[in-house]
Amino acid sequence: MKKVITYGTYDLLHQGHINLLRRAKELGDYLIVGVTNDSFDRDRGKLNVRNNVLERVEAVRATGYADQIIIEDYVGQKIDDVQKYGVDIFAIGSDWEGKFDYLKEFCEVVYLPRTEGISSTMLREESQEVVKIGIVGCGRVANRFVPESEFVNGVKVVGVYDLDEEKAKRFSDDKDISHVYKTFDQMLPEVDAVYVATPHLAHYEYVRRGIEAGKHVLCETPFVLNGNEAKELYHIAEEKGVILMEANKTAHCPAFNHLMVMIKSGLIGDVVDIDASLSKLWDDDKTLREFDPTQAGGSMYEMGSYPLLPILKLMGIHYENMNLYCRMKDGVDMYTKGVIRYPNAVCTFRVGLGVKTEGNLVISGTKGYAYVPAPWWKTDYFELRYENPADNKKFFYKWDGAGLRYEIQEFISCIYNHRFSSARLRRRESICMAEMMEQFTERKNIYEI
Ligand code: CTP
Repeated sequence: MKKVITYGTYDLLHQGHINLLRRAKELGDYLIVGVTNDSFDRDRGKLNVRNNVLERVEAVRATGYADQIIIEDYVGQKIDDVQKYGVDIFAIGSDWEGKFDYLKEFCEVVYLPRTEGISSTMLREESQEVVKIGIVGCGRVANRFVPESEFVNGVKVVGVYDLDEEKAKRFSDDKDISHVYKTFDQMLPEVDAVYVATPHLAHYEYVRRGIEAGKHVLCETPFVLNGNEAKELYHIAEEKGVILMEANKTAHCPAFNHLMVMIKSGLIGDVVDIDASLSKLWDDDKTLREFDPTQAGGSMYEMGSYPLLPILKLMGIHYENMNLYCRMKDGVDMYTKGVIRYPNAVCTFRVGLGVKTEGNLVISGTKGYAYVPAPWWKTDYFELRYENPADNKKFFYKWDGAGLRYEIQEFISCIYNHRFSSARLRRRESICMAEMMEQFTERKNIYEI
């Protein structure tokens, strides 16, 4: 029996795929089809695959050409598969000509003619209107947002607005953005979505005006500093049928997401303690917004939403109380340590603009613990550790560029799929963070050190 193997993503299965599978099958008696899994595709930079792996496997099965379907998980798997399944012929479309010659050591390699004029990329682009984004606030994070958005299909930054028009002009020249708007209201009719990257205290107003105008809004973290404001904004967004999402890049980081689902699956037992820390020392420059009490400066507002993320995702939003221990200077917290009590757990976090901490994340459970080294908020690596070191496991992932592409991709995906709450950072979690910020603002349960 002659065994043939071929691989692909098979997203939005099309005639090109069907022709290829038929031709591959005709080369032998038994066809194995390797379908890439979702995280492998993400690692390869395919951020916009529409069908998930189960749907893609079903589509391949429905063609009737595959005798066996396997999942492709890792780089180098093709050599393993060829040997494991006793494959005679490796077949792939001619767009890969020459790329798999290294397999000739193990089997025959055949490049089959590719069907002209069709591809999954084309279908994805055709079925997707480009979401036109306007940026409000041309600061540091907006600077990173524009190049990152170029890695995501179906989105284009078309305009910017900043209170400081000159700054907006420099930004648009530098980033090659076509429009600079004189007012936010001028920008709104021209865009489908708004990315709010202003200082924290301006978030509420821009978000509200954006969603009331029927625009989707991606708002930088911290979203707002008040629980009722957060609830109100999510409520209006849903009424208006638009997506409102808090942009917390860690929430969309592939390694962080995988860590969360592994812990929720019980791999370290019941979680009893989470300790997360984050610090960034700045020059003590009073002109920086980060040190200005009138602009919600300080460590808690600036960084708190990152360590709160694993805590709220794993322990939930129903904590019993939160005590905050702060080192204040000139009206802002240079350092804050939070202790959050849950019925069966206690969590701590540390954030510092003026104190350097070890920036790791440790999640302790009844069977083992997860250790994520600094900088855990943009991690590509973590370990699960147990009493018996032989059971320890290390996990490696990819983290591309500044990492904002993952949140942009999720925002676009929520828009297309009309998902009002992203599983990566639920609305209720975002609201809870705003309530915690409010507790800080009201100086409740705060102890100065
Ligand atoms: N293929 C083909 N003819 C096409 C498109 C794809 O023969 N018009 C082949 C590829 O060469 C590959 C297999 O189908 O052997 C699966 O390819 P895949 O990457 O899933 O399809 P594409 O449509 O090329 O996907 P994308 O646009 O996402 O790269």
